[in-house]
Amino acid sequence: MYCLAMFLTNQIQEERERERMEKENNNASVEVMSNNQVIYREQVRGSLKETNLEVRTSSERLKADAGLGTIFVKNLYLACDPYNLTIIKYLTHLGSPVTGYGVARVLESGHPNFKKGDLVWGITGWEEYSLITAPETCFKIEHTDVPLSYYTGLLGMPGMTAYAGFFEVCSPKKGETVFISAAAGAVGLLVGQFAKLFGCYVVGSAGSKEKVNLLKNKFGFDDAFNYKEEPDLDAALKRCFPEGIDIYFENVGGKMLDAVLLNMKLHGRITVCGMISQYNLKQPEGIHNLMNLILKRVRMEGFVVSDYCHLYPKFLETVLPQIKEGKIVYTEDMAEGLENGPAALVGVFSGHNVGKQVVMVSRECVSLKCAINGVLMAWRSTR
Ligand SMILES: NC(=O)c1ccc[n+]([C@@H]2O[C@H](COP(=O)([O-])OP(=O)(O)OC[C@H]3O[C@@H](n4cnc5c(N)ncnc54)[C@H](OP(=O)(O)O)[C@@H]3O)[C@@H](O)[C@H]2O)c1
Repeated sequence: MYCLAMFLTNQIQEERERERMEKENNNASVEVMSNNQVIYREQVRGSLKETNLEVRTSSERLKADAGLGTIFVKNLYLACDPYNLTIIKYLTHLGSPVTGYGVARVLESGHPNFKKGDLVWGITGWEEYSLITAPETCFKIEHTDVPLSYYTGLLGMPGMTAYAGFFEVCSPKKGETVFISAAAGAVGLLVGQFAKLFGCYVVGSAGSKEKVNLLKNKFGFDDAFNYKEEPDLDAALKRCFPEGIDIYFENVGGKMLDAVLLNMKLHGRITVCGMISQYNLKQPEGIHNLMNLILKRVRMEGFVVSDYCHLYPKFLETVLPQIKEGKIVYTEDMAEGLENGPAALVGVFSGHNVGKQVVMVSRECVSLKCAINGVLMAWRSTR
């Protein structure tokens, strides 16, 4: 999954290891600093648990190197993405820090594209300070009049996922009916708002009464239901879509996908973004209703956000004004401090998060405008 990002993450880790060893041998003059880190401690078997991770303090010598093109950063915010589980399970050595998307400030640069003081978002370590060995995978943050943490979600990878998935893969038409699962998650709540602004009829499913209320009353969904309280998902979908579904934005897989297949309209589209209900299972569930793709001529298509990186500038151009005008609203679930990172990440797989789950490593506000906008957006998000 997410081949490009996995490849890059792997590279980062390998290079980072090499860097460390080189530094130990050659750079004894660089000051030793203490670095709080979230370490992959114990192999994940079945579901991710807090005990698989450990917060500890290491002593490190970290320095950017112009020869290797590395950058040395202070991490500010880390994203808790379902994707972190893939990174942990398949790409992280036991004893190494967890990696994932985050927002950071460059303290030293050995790469021509970055300079000291720049703000960036991209793959970094779950630690206070990181040496990023493939900085070309990071995006420089140019717009700082919005809360920087937004670049872990709305203005970062999940936002791009919602944008590319909806506009490029769903092929939406005004007036169509759209169903979104995990609708109160970072991707889902944005897909729903994009679809509403586009002129679709939008329904979402989520795992609590509180989330259903948010979808209907804050994020502007036409309807929503709590899938955990629906004994018959097929009946719930028939109630919300008596004429059927044109577009299903798939985030969960399993039983929900099976029920949706019974309710698709002729020439409907199923955009497969994720299947979070399957990630922690030893044996994935089977799907029984795929025959409906034939008679209803439904197109089912998966996508990976990294294929759409070229659209990022267009995405920002579209979304930044919509945020500032309050046309798109957003909510974050902020865990304060790296020590609360493991619990926050584990919580994503049981729906503890309401909106984007973020870990704040170090708070930073770059301008008065950013602070004012932050307060304004937080106020909007509580209405
Ligand atoms: N294709 C790509 O390039 C790409 C990129 C980013 C994300 N994704 C995928 O998109 C999906 C949504 O990601 P996100 O960032 O929006 O996630 P998120 O904000 O972390 O939210 C995940 C939500 O999924 C729901 N969930 C967890 N376990 C579930 C289960 N067993 N059954 C049903 N729902 C469950 C929970 O909400 P409830 O309370 O509603 O259960 C949870 O809050 C994920 O599947 C992710 O892997 C794909």
